[in-house]
Amino acid sequence: MAKIPPGVGPRFPQVVVLFGATGDLARRKLLPGLFHLASVGFIPGCRIIGVSLDDIDVEAFRTLARSSLDEFSARKVTDADWAAFAASLDYVPLGAGAAALRAAVDRAEQALPGESRRLHYLSVPPSAALPAVRLLGEAGLVERSRIVMEKPFGTDLASAVSLNTKLHDVFAEDQIFRIDHFLGKEPAQNILAFRFANGLFEPIWNRNFIDHVQIDVPETLGLGKRSGFYEQTGAYRDMVVTHLFQILAFMAMEPPTALEPAPISEEKNKVFRSMLPILPANVVRGQYTGYRDEEGVDPQSETETFIALKCFIDNWRWAGVPFFLRTGKKMAEGQRIISIAFREPPKSMFPAGSGVGAQGPDHLTFDLADASKMSLSFYGKRPGPGMRLDKLSLQFAMHDTGLIGDVLEAYERLILDAMRGDRTLFTTAEGIERLWEVSTQLLEAPPPVRLYPPNSWGPKSIHQLIAPHAWRLPFERAWRAPNPAGN
Ligand code: BG6
Repeated sequence: MAKIPPGVGPRFPQVVVLFGATGDLARRKLLPGLFHLASVGFIPGCRIIGVSLDDIDVEAFRTLARSSLDEFSARKVTDADWAAFAASLDYVPLGAGAAALRAAVDRAEQALPGESRRLHYLSVPPSAALPAVRLLGEAGLVERSRIVMEKPFGTDLASAVSLNTKLHDVFAEDQIFRIDHFLGKEPAQNILAFRFANGLFEPIWNRNFIDHVQIDVPETLGLGKRSGFYEQTGAYRDMVVTHLFQILAFMAMEPPTALEPAPISEEKNKVFRSMLPILPANVVRGQYTGYRDEEGVDPQSETETFIALKCFIDNWRWAGVPFFLRTGKKMAEGQRIISIAFREPPKSMFPAGSGVGAQGPDHLTFDLADASKMSLSFYGKRPGPGMRLDKLSLQFAMHDTGLIGDVLEAYERLILDAMRGDRTLFTTAEGIERLWEVSTQLLEAPPPVRLYPPNSWGPKSIHQLIAPHAWRLPFERAWRAPNPAGN
């Protein structure tokens, strides 16, 4: 078993009440994540109570948990670890009601040594979230607890405000952890490290030196069985309001006064407060051909499976710098990048035809994949006679450090933080409400969806949106392959 540094895990044993325990997210991420955290010893003691609409018993839940580990756990499941994990599982069908849930939590707490804490995880569709919150209230499970909420946190400003008010009837704001798993990805946190642990880039991290920014998250996957959910949601609510704007805030925020939850949330919220409303004219909505034929989708659906937009942060650091965001399903490649384009030199003394500027501006690019990568591109001289310039790059790949095995999967990291009560990587009611507020014009008057063929980069009008600049993706020069020797 790995040696766990002190302070990594929560101080108290945890009872996890997992709503939606038989659902897709639980099977793919939450059960494998809890298994990993428990089996490496990050949690001093943990019992998990699955709750869902399915009328199954604890043995059937164990079977489901085992199959989800076999299918989705990236790590080997030893017999001893599985036996310990299986013994920590319990199950209560939702229909059994508040008293049965309370009894299961009491049993779990008695089985744990000393004082414990409760972590309620709501991995349920929006319509089931408030009933689950009320059930927890009725069962008397609010004390000593924290609650993790999955998006969407409303669908517009009014619904977000109403959801937050109803949540606050039962839980205090400091008990509520709104999860955005993009912020749990190692490279997202690395943006903070890169910016604030170094003196090199921060002096040029502003409108005087940065020309524009792209946050681009194309996905190759389609919707599978999620069409029904997605039809009500669309790419803007599913990906932009939650994930992409949160990443944007890390990229754009001022240095916080301390690396602590309140100062970091405050700086993120200041970015959101400075955002100008998203104008429909600055948005391209797309839908891949064939979407309307999918099960659960209206044959005349106007839901977007793709979105690209231009937005602005109107403060001293960023006024006038466009931020281009793009994401979509069934696109040509799966990538997650932030790309920062620096201004070009004011004057060039290089002869015509030398190639200077021919391949776009210098870029700093972050790859947000679990194994993070970074690249800084610049013009350099091509060897040989004369002065011919080529675009070169400095690249860093986490793969090469030999530490890739230490990476915590985003959900693992965030579950652990919620158990520790650390809110640094969670979003606040104020931040979410402000994002819905800047979205109002777009939600009220969305531009029409344009069709795009699967395996493409979206509708043609994405090029007009970004002109005179160009999308970084697809990359003209590929990332350097990781160095297998790790040196
Ligand atoms: C989810 C969205 O939150 O994030 C999905 O609902 C999307 O539509 C997913 O595919 C992307 O997450 P990741 O971690 O696979 O990049």
